[in-house]
Amino acid sequence: MALTGFFLVSFLIFHLTVNLFLFEGTGGDFSKFGAFLGSFPAIRPIEWILFGGFILHFCLGAYVWLKNRRARPHGYGVKGTSKTIKLSSRLSIYTGLAILAFLAWHLLQFFVASRFSGSTVNMYELVAREFSLLYVVALYELFFVILGFHLKHGFQALFQSLGLRTARYRGFIDAVGVVIWLLIPAGFASIPLVMYFGGAR
Ligand code: HEM
Repeated sequence: MALTGFFLVSFLIFHLTVNLFLFEGTGGDFSKFGAFLGSFPAIRPIEWILFGGFILHFCLGAYVWLKNRRARPHGYGVKGTSKTIKLSSRLSIYTGLAILAFLAWHLLQFFVASRFSGSTVNMYELVAREFSLLYVVALYELFFVILGFHLKHGFQALFQSLGLRTARYRGFIDAVGVVIWLLIPAGFASIPLVMYFGGAR
């Protein structure tokens, strides 16, 4: 889980960096870069590896969750008092499912539209059209809060699994974690807001 999670966070950082070019507007590099990536010969195998990473991460998460449930089928005798199992940790299966649902919608909106529509799509215009709809912007913002929760737990679990979250490094790791779980979703969240209120059409 830790390794696939690390791989997916690397993708998120790359994806966010590319998406920030949306702020340049219609004449910017966003669509050009998208067209370049689309025609890049290695892009298909890379996409399969990426989708494989998402599927593997999800399957492993479901497996760990089921294993934990089987180990304690009746739950805890006293509910809601655990200080060690944080909220983001207990919610991670649900935030993970929400991310899966978001991905299905997101891929239909942009990826399928760009790759399988049969004609050349201007990605900037497609994104701007979607983010001119209030309900789309609102659902994306809600999703980025959920993503933040998921990353918060995932980042701490990553270092826990690798045995690096020792008392000595815990403070430092948690501080770097804030950058990951707060800044990545906040960066993504800024895009629909700026495009909606900036009036991108
Ligand atoms: C405001 C935020 C986001 C915007 C504007 C955005 C935009 C896009 C666009 C335009 C594409 C199609 C690229 C192409 O086929 O040329 C795409 C693909 C994709 N997005 Fe996003 N995205 C956002 C957030 C996210 C998040 C948070 C995730 C993951 C949790 C994600 C996962 C993906 C995946 C897996 C693909 C398919 C692979 C790829 O084409 O890179 N996206 N996104």
